[in-house]
Amino acid sequence: MTTHNMFHEPVMLAEVLSALKLRDGGIYVDGTFGAGGYTRAILEKARCKVVAIDRDPDAIQAGQALARQHAERLTLVEGRFGDMPALLANSGISSVDGVVLDIGVSSMQLDEPARGFSFMRDGPLDMRMAQAGATAADAVNTLAPEQLSRIIHIFGEESRARAIARAIVRARDTEPIATTGALVSAIEKATGRQRAQDRIHPATRTFQALRIHVNGELDELVAALHAAEKFLAPGGRLVVVTFHSLEDRIVKRFFTSRAGKLSLASRHLPEARTPPPPSFELPFKGHLEATSGETARNPRARSAKLRAGIRTQAPPMASIADEIGVSTAGRH
Ligand SMILES: C[S@@+](CC[C@H](N)C(=O)[O-])C[C@H]1O[C@@H](n2cnc3c(N)ncnc32)[C@H](O)[C@@H]1O
Repeated sequence: MTTHNMFHEPVMLAEVLSALKLRDGGIYVDGTFGAGGYTRAILEKARCKVVAIDRDPDAIQAGQALARQHAERLTLVEGRFGDMPALLANSGISSVDGVVLDIGVSSMQLDEPARGFSFMRDGPLDMRMAQAGATAADAVNTLAPEQLSRIIHIFGEESRARAIARAIVRARDTEPIATTGALVSAIEKATGRQRAQDRIHPATRTFQALRIHVNGELDELVAALHAAEKFLAPGGRLVVVTFHSLEDRIVKRFFTSRAGKLSLASRHLPEARTPPPPSFELPFKGHLEATSGETARNPRARSAKLRAGIRTQAPPMASIADEIGVSTAGRH
């Protein structure tokens, strides 16, 4: 393990804090508590309250000391950020001043071989953030070949998806694939081993695809964006950090449509129809990236993109879930 992997600095923290525009007395939702990096900094920066959510029981467990330290101001909740409406309602909250999401796996999850997220470390082929439900091993050993290929193609943006799915099926016909190492060798049968000139390991995209599938990650993201739109008070901020293009595309499309820059309904409605008033204003154009100083210290920050919106007075808009079509890859 290199010293880089030991590094657990929260990604784009300064930019996140500034985009949230914290104020004393505010209520903020950290939808991805993880190692608590954002939550800790938010609590330090303003006399505010934080509701921090994580679906991983280990993250919630590790956060108990921080919750005790800020007993009056921090509520730690085990659950899915896509379920934010119910989780906030349970805490008696009907409106918030900011929501931050730092999408993806934490270093704690990635670095622990027993969680099965990493193709670099041999361990059980698990990949469940919530440690409940079907595992990645269940998926690769039971899904129909076409479905596996669709998942790998869509969620992994992998051009060799068919060949990889075939190799997985050949391997599981001999013996169920139970470990990350066994999956990596099945993938390498289709792709060959990593060569010096390859930018990324041949298993990277398939592992990403299975992780997204196992955790329903894109559906979760879409649900959380809509929940934030519903719960943010006028002037409240939504700040989202993503790490790959599938997620960023969803966030970008959401903000573009909410800011009135793209009428998602235009395909289905008469041209003359007045678009709904924007539910978000954009504090800056496009996205922010980590500084070169941060990416030099923390390689994970290299692919980070931060997008933000400021909630207006307008009512929430219609769902973008159908337009995005994210749930279809894994379910047919
Ligand atoms: C990149 S880490 C967050 C790191 C955090 N910002 C910090 O500073 O320590 C992402 C975390 O979000 C959690 N997570 C991912 N998807 C989730 C979901 N749908 N609902 C709740 N938590 C989720 C993961 O379990 C993981 O702990």
